[in-house]
Amino acid sequence: MAPPRVMFVNHTSAIAGAELILLDVVRAWRGATAFLFEDGPLEAAMRSKGLDVVLSRFGRGLTNLKRDASLWRAAPLAGRLAGITAEIAGAARRHDVIYANSQKAFVLAAIANAAARRPLVWHLHDIIDGSHFGAGQRRLQVALANRFAARVVVPSEAAASAFAAAGGRADLVEVVPNGVDIVRDPRSREDLRRDLGLPAGPLVGVFSRLAQWKGQHVVLDALATLPEVRGIIVGDALFGEQDYAATLRAQTEKLGLAGRVQFLGHRADVPLLMQAVDVMIHPSVAPEPFGRTLVEAMLAGVPVVATDAGAAADILDGGAAGTLVPPGDAAALAGAVARVLARPDDLAAQLDRATARAQDRYGVAAMQDAVAAVIARLAAGAHA
Ligand code: UDP
Ligand code: GLC
Repeated sequence: MAPPRVMFVNHTSAIAGAELILLDVVRAWRGATAFLFEDGPLEAAMRSKGLDVVLSRFGRGLTNLKRDASLWRAAPLAGRLAGITAEIAGAARRHDVIYANSQKAFVLAAIANAAARRPLVWHLHDIIDGSHFGAGQRRLQVALANRFAARVVVPSEAAASAFAAAGGRADLVEVVPNGVDIVRDPRSREDLRRDLGLPAGPLVGVFSRLAQWKGQHVVLDALATLPEVRGIIVGDALFGEQDYAATLRAQTEKLGLAGRVQFLGHRADVPLLMQAVDVMIHPSVAPEPFGRTLVEAMLAGVPVVATDAGAAADILDGGAAGTLVPPGDAAALAGAVARVLARPDDLAAQLDRATARAQDRYGVAAMQDAVAAVIARLAAGAHA
């Protein structure tokens, strides 16, 4: 039988964790279609994986719409959303399975698919709870999922539980852990520091896009109490969070950290930077749906200090493969970082455990196979 014709739908063309996962998923689907709301880095990346990209004529700038009131005047939102929905509906008829990779993509694909009635997968990369979404958004997402999704793929038990707690049908859910493949660089930490232009001495790093719920502000508060420690903040505001980025810089000045904390912006060499620090901090103040950076650090052999919110506890084996601290607690974070820095040799067993766990549970091939199995089952059912 010919492979199913799959259309992958994503609203943003910025590349954050959900898009990195999609890019690994589609490696197994050369020749499939990617329907994107806007142009941008994801478009080129999709083409480089051999996908045919269909770009919406109506989606440009929608990602940051809230922040740009003039767009509302230029073209009414409802009309543009209706335009995208019609485009998806038209394209859906030429495919066997529709695969929505983001929340906005799913909502529009669900509406679009009401007529085409193709099996619709929602790869849900979010925690549907009150810390991430308003009540109306949650109700809409869950109602559409329960009615129109053939399968809801989530990266963690935490995301699965949140979906069910929000009223989502548990029988739709399939947990497919995210896959992350990274090969460790052979250079020593000291050599990497030198080659990357990073300072010597105790150094911690954060490697997430800049967003309030990612919690970089808590790291700055913690560093203010650790005068010997330097920090690198890697990542940029990807989804209109420039105000938060500005407050982080102001906070750095106010706390007198300008000499010790460097903002490196978005970087393409996160695995190397991660391997060069003494501690990887994952400071999210709201539940993390998965957290690729946790697995990246585990593979890099770098101690992790993470907030116990969302999937982190499971990924870190309940604290056996990293240190868990309460979210939003700068004193607890500072204490944990100080302990890790004081006795690095005590962590050898923890680091080995972390690397083995990341390799065993969070490989890309297993993720690709699990997603392919979901798609194959649905395509077979649709043809039956
Ligand atoms: N990342 C990157 N460059 C940066 C900051 C982050 O390539 O400057 C990567 C990071 O290594 C990780 C991904 O972006 O693979 C973020 O995924 P994660 O699941 O941690 O969080 P998300 O941003 O998707 O919520
Ligand atoms: C989202 C989540 C992140 C997850 C990524 C891939 O961006 O915020 O936790 O790792 O998707 O599933």
